[in-house]
Amino acid sequence: MNTPRKITTHVLQEMKLKGEKIAMLTAYDFSFARLLDRAGIDIILVGDSASNVMAGYDSTLPITLNEMIYHASSVVRGVNRALVVVDMPFGTYQGNSKEALSSSIRIMKESGADAVKLEGGKEVLESVDRILTAGIPVMGHLGLTPQSIHKFGTYVVRATDPKEADKLIEDAHLLEKAGCFSIVLEKIPAKLGAQVSNELKIPIIGIGAGSQVDGQVLVLHDMLGITTEFSPRFLRRYHNLSDEIQGSVKAYTGCEIGGFPKRTGAILAIGY
Ligand code: KIV
Repeated sequence: MNTPRKITTHVLQEMKLKGEKIAMLTAYDFSFARLLDRAGIDIILVGDSASNVMAGYDSTLPITLNEMIYHASSVVRGVNRALVVVDMPFGTYQGNSKEALSSSIRIMKESGADAVKLEGGKEVLESVDRILTAGIPVMGHLGLTPQSIHKFGTYVVRATDPKEADKLIEDAHLLEKAGCFSIVLEKIPAKLGAQVSNELKIPIIGIGAGSQVDGQVLVLHDMLGITTEFSPRFLRRYHNLSDEIQGSVKAYTGCEIGGFPKRTGAILAIGY
């Protein structure tokens, strides 16, 4: 069997030029990362959504740098082909470019990932510049930036008014000019997503940003239906793993889902 070609930032750039769509999903552990990689995913994002779906917090703010490095190094051990991008957690790059540099160096050195991602435009440009000087590829993230949820107040669609849309376009150009290899656009009008993708040379990956961008990203636990309480309009569920897993556990234990443990059958076991 041929060894699959490793995805690099250059490969992603070529994909944009050829009009090939880029597929990106999140993963936080070895087993899922290995499955995604074998299934041909182009980019695996070790998202700070780990704070929600792995740790059970109600925002992305609490997760720490050490925790992100733990998730990222587990993912890297499962991957041969995909580009592995790691979210820089809240508080490790905003307002202090030296700290941004040392945090990103720790991520790269201790996890073996290929790139980092951070949220924001002009206000984090100094951090982006400094990280890039160390030769670390940076992915931007504009639109709904969950680390700023306390500033926004809600998770509604961003950049619907012209002033915010203009700032987003300006920020996207600044990030490209600084040297970011790609940008994620989250929850913005489809027309704006298409405009940014047309104006910029680097690949634009959307999540709730319409179909006229260069690739799509989803949170793995949402698209597999492991999480059920989160249902934004853009989210397509490809599976209902939540029911399947609970059904399997019920088959094993003989208990009703959610009910008081009332065994109706024996726990299946095979002896030697
Ligand atoms: O943390 C994450 O999962 C993300 C995606 C929503 C893009 O940043």
